[in-house]
Amino acid sequence: MNFASDTERHRLHKPAGRRVRTAGEHAKVELHAAATSLLRYRYNPTTNKARQGILEDRHRLRSPVACLNTRGVSRDATNEKEKPMARETMPSTVDINGRRWGARAHDWADIQEQGCRPVYLAVFERVALRSGTAYLDAGCGAGMASQIAAERGARVSGLDAADNLLAIARARVPDGDLRVGDLERLPFADDSFDLVTGFNSFQFAGNPGVALAEARRVTRPGGDVVIVTWGEPEGMEAASLLAALKPLLPPSPAAAPGPFALSDETALRTFATDAGLDAGEVFDLDSPWQYADLATALRGLGSSGVAARAIEEHGQAAVDAAHASALTRFRRPNGSYTIAASFRCLLARA
Ligand SMILES: C[S@@+](CC[C@H](N)C(=O)[O-])C[C@H]1O[C@@H](n2cnc3c(N)ncnc32)[C@H](O)[C@@H]1O
Repeated sequence: MNFASDTERHRLHKPAGRRVRTAGEHAKVELHAAATSLLRYRYNPTTNKARQGILEDRHRLRSPVACLNTRGVSRDATNEKEKPMARETMPSTVDINGRRWGARAHDWADIQEQGCRPVYLAVFERVALRSGTAYLDAGCGAGMASQIAAERGARVSGLDAADNLLAIARARVPDGDLRVGDLERLPFADDSFDLVTGFNSFQFAGNPGVALAEARRVTRPGGDVVIVTWGEPEGMEAASLLAALKPLLPPSPAAAPGPFALSDETALRTFATDAGLDAGEVFDLDSPWQYADLATALRGLGSSGVAARAIEEHGQAAVDAAHASALTRFRRPNGSYTIAASFRCLLARA
């Protein structure tokens, strides 16, 4: 993994100066506010205080003296049984997300997931996935990334909340260890993996910080943890498809992070370091969404957990109408659609 090019993306932090902000700069300010809100949301100032101090010292976290692990349980050098401690208060999202993301599992696997294929390939090139790599895809969904990794000889494990997606993943990776579970409570021992990825998954946990700290816990010291999230929304065509659903979703709590909260580089790095990771290179990957026709586009876009939520509230027809309207400007003369999307990746080391 290359940690040399941290200078990439520093243009993100250009000072706005004293002149009147452009529309783009306004968007940036809002993005920063959303990121700040994510970090606030992540911390419960009373219950997280002690743990955060420990998370900031990754060596102490691994130390044989009594410490907290990242699941909020205590353990010590004598290998005593783990003792439950007061756990973070955010409710788990595993049941509700499992149901929503699994609602249209085949549409996700056949259509929408294809749009991330270039991201999986690029990430595996960067981390030099090879034969024998012990690999966990945290929030593996229907398992395309797992399948690519298995084809390259990795020993694949995956975890997801959605049983229906996992059924597809198991068919694609028959030798994989693919489990239903919660990102916040990974059912794997400490230091089990050489590589853990979260392709657009950590942000869906009840407490994303706990989920990432879990990813770190199960990664061996020096192993790789990859966080993939949305790229910056400003100017991104796919962001308009997400925005189209906003009127069909219940209002979020004021402090809740939006889908782009981790797209801010500073927030993304803080997210990683708070989990005890060494944050390395941040880079963006373009991965366009392509659909042969409108019907395919509506099935693909309607298969996300977010769309499922909107469908619960307003019905399939309303969601299809919102997507169809937002799709109009991307229609090509042959009736197909291509929508630019970009994803931001952070390579980190446990
Ligand atoms: C945007 S999808 C990404 C899936 C897959 N990584 C991909 O690239 O296609 C988010 C995934 O996170 C899973 N998820 C959401 N909340 C979860 C939780 N608390 N525990 C485990 N998985 C969760 C969903 O079921 C869904 O498969």
